[in-house]
Amino acid sequence: MTTVGSRRGFASDNSATVHPRVLESIAAANAGHAFGYGHDPYTHEVERRLAAALGAPDAAVFFVFNGSGANVLSLRAALKPWEAAIVSANAHLQTDEVGAPEAVAGVKLLVAETEDGMMTFDGVRRLVERPNDEHAVKPGLLSLTQSTELGTIYPLDELRALAELAHSGGLRVHVDGARFANAAAALGASLPELVSACGVDLLSFGGTKNGLMLGEAVVVFDQALVSGMLHLRKQTLQLASKMRYIAAQFDALLGDDLWLANATHANAMARRLCDAVSGVPGVTVTRAPAANAVFALLGAAARERLQREFDFYEWDDVTGEVRWMCSWDTTEADVDAFASAVRAAAS
Ligand SMILES: Cc1ncc(COP(=O)(O)O)c(C=O)c1O
Repeated sequence: MTTVGSRRGFASDNSATVHPRVLESIAAANAGHAFGYGHDPYTHEVERRLAAALGAPDAAVFFVFNGSGANVLSLRAALKPWEAAIVSANAHLQTDEVGAPEAVAGVKLLVAETEDGMMTFDGVRRLVERPNDEHAVKPGLLSLTQSTELGTIYPLDELRALAELAHSGGLRVHVDGARFANAAAALGASLPELVSACGVDLLSFGGTKNGLMLGEAVVVFDQALVSGMLHLRKQTLQLASKMRYIAAQFDALLGDDLWLANATHANAMARRLCDAVSGVPGVTVTRAPAANAVFALLGAAARERLQREFDFYEWDDVTGEVRWMCSWDTTEADVDAFASAVRAAAS
């Protein structure tokens, strides 16, 4: 058998292992036969519990394989062919989905002015309020990421303002919540509070980056969008036949608020790492970690030296800014070992 090895790193929260309780839950679901494609009582029950945990018992939950699929499916569900989605310059939809919104959903993205990974109110307003004649796409959806791709977090009042702006302009709100749990944990907000502040109509709720093996959920709060979702999920190639094994993972994530414990821990490790490397000569932390990512600048030789021992990504090829991502299974010892390697490499 091929072995994976014991290397530790800060490349991504999807480099992390699967939480043991998630694996146990998969094993527990591995009994008897069940209808496929989510047509089994266990999956229905977990869907119901996720909707309840989000404070929206009437919301419809659709488990999917991955975050890109959740986002693209959301766009397909919410937008007509002449409508566009407003996104940030750093949105995963814009930068990391190979044009799937355009290629798969047929949706044009309008990039709003962005600061620190967050769309500005005025930037969104300019796009919402611009005149829409027959020659222009019509903004139909505001898609915001919480927490953002740059590890920042929209405060609740900014979310409320953005959601109100979108809704008053006739747009729906989508949230890319690949790290929704990290945002809730960092804000000290409950999931229903965060959902309510976002005014969210469709949520890509993350699981994979928070301890699952694989699995995300599209949660549809706007009842008008529910019909058709079953067909759209399949058509977007996001329908798992052995669905109960995705449901089992969410079962574990919801049990005893594992989602919160995992996210709180990942955030705390990022804070610990930031504290440990701040002030190290030759290292500049470029963004204070609001959630579970630390961004920093350090010289090319130091980066290269560090990467021999630890995995992480260079986020910006031009500036050499790096991203150090913490996850549910990052330990204090991982952080401390890495911080001393940073000190040694930068000296
Ligand atoms: C903010 C955000 N959204 C969506 C995704 C997509 O997830 P996946 O890789 O499962 O398609 C990612 C993954 O990096 C992400 O960071």
